[in-house]
Amino acid sequence: MFKVIKTEDYDEMSDQAFEIVKEIVTAKPDCVLGLATGSSPIGLYERMVRDHQENGTSYADVKTVNLDEYLGLLIDHPESYFSFMQKNLFSGIDILPSNTYLPRDGEDKLEQCKKYDEILDELEIDVQLLGIGSNGHIGFNEPGTAFDSKTHVVDLKESTRRDNARFFDSIDEVPKQAITMGIGSILKAKKILLIASGENKADAIAAMINGPATTEVPASALQQHPDVTVIVDQAAASKL
Ligand code: F6R
Repeated sequence: MFKVIKTEDYDEMSDQAFEIVKEIVTAKPDCVLGLATGSSPIGLYERMVRDHQENGTSYADVKTVNLDEYLGLLIDHPESYFSFMQKNLFSGIDILPSNTYLPRDGEDKLEQCKKYDEILDELEIDVQLLGIGSNGHIGFNEPGTAFDSKTHVVDLKESTRRDNARFFDSIDEVPKQAITMGIGSILKAKKILLIASGENKADAIAAMINGPATTEVPASALQQHPDVTVIVDQAAASKL
């Protein structure tokens, strides 16, 4: 079930998302947050850091699990999702590094997927934050991914590599593969919070909410979830 909150712009989207996350962290200081990377959550993470510094909201007992990570980048590469999380959130709050989990690259990819599923089996995610790809992906679950999928290796679609090329010197440097939490694991979160801004997300948002549930639009799997809050700015909501 979708609850849709429409906002004026990115900043208001970030404000609203922050209110929801803060309420969860305050009510349950040892909650498990499912986190995302990319442009969408940066404003939310800025607010979490500011609130921690100004109001002392503590993350000392919080655990986090991230959705995905590129394959083929060294962990300290500036564009690895590990680096993204350190830079945009973890270094600014009092979370313990041992309480933060991201899928990891490694020699044996299947073993890495299995290890991440073991972590996900142990943790119950209180809220899973999601962005959405212009092709409807959630995490790096590209079109065609089964709705009951677990952690797996994906070949990134050209459209996804093009979308993400803005973070790299050229598209050639964008990794071709990633490791991602599966849609099945995302659906197990107690609550889902999906944020989107900009016109290039409008088709994906409309298909997720009003289209048929189809693996061609991975986000349409969320139609099965009982508690999904979608916060969209005007441009991303323009086709609803
Ligand atoms: C990132 C992730 C992706 C992004 C999506 C939107 O961890 O899982 O699904 O949320 O690609 O990216 P942005 O927010 O950069 O438009």
